[in-house]
Amino acid sequence: MRVLFAYPNEVADPWLVALRLALPDIAFSVWNPSGPPVGADAALVWRPPKALFEQEPTLKVIFNLGAGVDALLATDIPAAIRIVRLEDAGMALQMAEYAAFALARLSRDFDFYEANQKHARWQPARGTPRSAWPVGVLGLGAIGRQVADTLAALGYDVRGWSRTPRQLEGIDTFAGAAQWPDFLARTRVLINVLPLTDETRDLIDHRCLSQLLPGAHVINVGRGETLVEEDLLSQMESGHVAGATLDVFRTEPLPADHPFWRDRRIYITPHVAARTLRIESIAQIVENLKRLLRGETLRGVVDRERGY
Ligand SMILES: NC(=O)c1ccc[n+]([C@@H]2O[C@H](COP(=O)([O-])OP(=O)(O)OC[C@H]3O[C@@H](n4cnc5c(N)ncnc54)[C@H](OP(=O)(O)O)[C@@H]3O)[C@@H](O)[C@H]2O)c1
Repeated sequence: MRVLFAYPNEVADPWLVALRLALPDIAFSVWNPSGPPVGADAALVWRPPKALFEQEPTLKVIFNLGAGVDALLATDIPAAIRIVRLEDAGMALQMAEYAAFALARLSRDFDFYEANQKHARWQPARGTPRSAWPVGVLGLGAIGRQVADTLAALGYDVRGWSRTPRQLEGIDTFAGAAQWPDFLARTRVLINVLPLTDETRDLIDHRCLSQLLPGAHVINVGRGETLVEEDLLSQMESGHVAGATLDVFRTEPLPADHPFWRDRRIYITPHVAARTLRIESIAQIVENLKRLLRGETLRGVVDRERGY
């Protein structure tokens, strides 16, 4: 079996060394866009150009080196190729940590102390109980579940929303369009961990935001296109939404003249909420390559119709 590594801006050696060590019978190599085809069966990819599929028509499986596949599905990938994504692979814990940080920053007034430090001002805040911060997690997949569980373990009142009904201990769960209004009506801190699909694009809009509890806060770690940015600004203008913690944006990098940069109620990070971790990712891909060699079902295969 021949497997290509097609992640252009990543140093390939540490990946190849670990992959060859784990699977010595597989021929791993780095994709060379100007070289001859190698007759690859599979490829590890991140945002691959169309040229990869034209050059390697024998490809049967691609392993996306991330959890989100929206950019990949927007590429014209031949229908016969199976797309496999990373499932958690160390990202869920990072995302849970990010969400806990963003929530604690508000609920424990760390944002207030940050501002006070600039003026050498020693002033304890009055504080609010955890019950004042009911959380709603959009998406209860590999990552969203851990976000919800972690915040519930910290004592927050957590509910979650998914496409199909899910049962999670300690989490109030909601599913589909029918339960959307009930979910929103009990949420003050809305955390988006949904994949970007036709159904989730522009989901967090004026209508959605206006149904949240007053003084709402939006944490977006899913994809930028799920949030209608102008609607967030207008809801903040009206005071219904108090602020946002945003890791993903409709345009990345976020343009220097974007109004988000100048709004102190918005906390910005540059799409780093959960990074691809090499060791964990390799372990998952090695397991799947072994399954492929044995002719077994692969884990994390993307349903192209569903879009995730
Ligand atoms: N910012 C970052 O650094 C970063 C890093 C990694 C991932 N991400 C983002 O996080 C996303 C989620 O990753 P994951 O691994 O948790 O995905 P996942 O395991 O595929 O889970 C997706 C969840 O979203 C739900 N969902 C999808 N479409 C829906 C819809 N139309 N209505 C309601 N719920 C819907 C699914 O519902 P069901 O349970 O019913 O299927 C599932 O619970 C990725 O797609 C990516 O965009 C961001």
